[in-house]
Amino acid sequence: MTRFITHFESAIEPGVTLDADEIQMMHNDRPLWARYDLKKVAAVMTKDVLASRPSSPWRYRELLPLGDEITPVSLNESMSPIIDCDRLAAVMGVGQLHIKDEGQLPTCSFKSRGLALAVTMARHFGIERIAMSSNGNAGGAMAMYAARAGIESVVFMPKDTPIANKMEAYTCGAKLFETNGWIDQGGKRIREGHDRGLWFDISTLKEPYRLEGKKTMGLEIAEQFDWKLPDVVIYPTGGGTALIAMWKAFQELREMGFLESDTMPRFYASQSDGCQPIVTAFNAGKRFATRHENPQTVASGIRVPTALGDFMVIDALRESGGGAVAVCEEKLSHWQAKVASNEGLIVCPEAATCVGALETLLEDGTIGADERVVIVNTAAGQKYFDGAVPNVETIDLNEETDWDSFEQQFLGSPNAV
Ligand SMILES: Cc1ncc(COP(=O)(O)O)c(C=O)c1O
Repeated sequence: MTRFITHFESAIEPGVTLDADEIQMMHNDRPLWARYDLKKVAAVMTKDVLASRPSSPWRYRELLPLGDEITPVSLNESMSPIIDCDRLAAVMGVGQLHIKDEGQLPTCSFKSRGLALAVTMARHFGIERIAMSSNGNAGGAMAMYAARAGIESVVFMPKDTPIANKMEAYTCGAKLFETNGWIDQGGKRIREGHDRGLWFDISTLKEPYRLEGKKTMGLEIAEQFDWKLPDVVIYPTGGGTALIAMWKAFQELREMGFLESDTMPRFYASQSDGCQPIVTAFNAGKRFATRHENPQTVASGIRVPTALGDFMVIDALRESGGGAVAVCEEKLSHWQAKVASNEGLIVCPEAATCVGALETLLEDGTIGADERVVIVNTAAGQKYFDGAVPNVETIDLNEETDWDSFEQQFLGSPNAV
């Protein structure tokens, strides 16, 4: 029985290391990197071994802190599919467009990945109550995996968080609280509770395990593309943990000699112009972002005014040769409809920002017409259907239907969204 993790390392103070056999959080209030003996991992987790394993994120267990010693808390996750979007690619004018559909994970969002691992490690270290401030999907996923593990969970969510997320948490028995502030303000209260010993703060990047769980998204992309990475990855960025995680996954695979080429994809962070701290910092040539005051976007998962790992996201964007793009908040439903009407896939509003960013980057020539692009659909769009259907007509069943005018008026053209 072996774990291949060797230690944790401060993400900002090189040389500062922490023990991987103890539960860790941060060092000097900055996130940690998990480090592995990659030579040993490569010798055991070969490509052939991987090919023989079930289609699940746990197939990469040697590259996770659990190795084969710790049994994961699992809802039988599968690898999420890559959806080839040929019609949308043709409409947008790009060589290849693929959507990594994280909506098909057990919690209907990519948050399954980080929280399955973080809850596993919390249980392993004997923690009985976990808590976080969440914009929705993470809180729901925490509650689901905590219930599965038999651990208590507490979540603070802004009042206008999508109802699906609140109900996920509530139904799984989490202590759910609505707040009148933003995710970072709730996060400060969760930290106070942690410091009083009420719970373990499982907020993203405040502990190092969620990042590692999210890394499986990058590992899957590499394997699903037969170890030939795409040219571009566009990611809807809030805290940016999954972008950092994919970048880390690709670096580790490169070091292990798994990749067909040393060229890394260019990463682009997409944000709504209603909350764009990373874009603003990136464009100003900064490494640390300034808080985006009064953030406003229906893409609740990326309504993150300050990100603890801002410098890690911006470093990854710069090192990869990519960038950051803010798109028009008012057009999110238009981009959702563009994907749905061309491909039958309902992406979340967060992922709609990726489609807007792709449009911008193709228009200004930053992405070439022959490139292979991956967009991450971080959650099922269905989770956000809270209100009424826009522009829907009523059929009066007490009257005869005039089929000629019906056909003329309604059929053959797309819905105006
Ligand atoms: C659907 C969705 N997309 C994107 C994000 C942003 O995630 P990250 O912290 O990796 O930037 C979130 C986070 O809550 C989310 O729920």
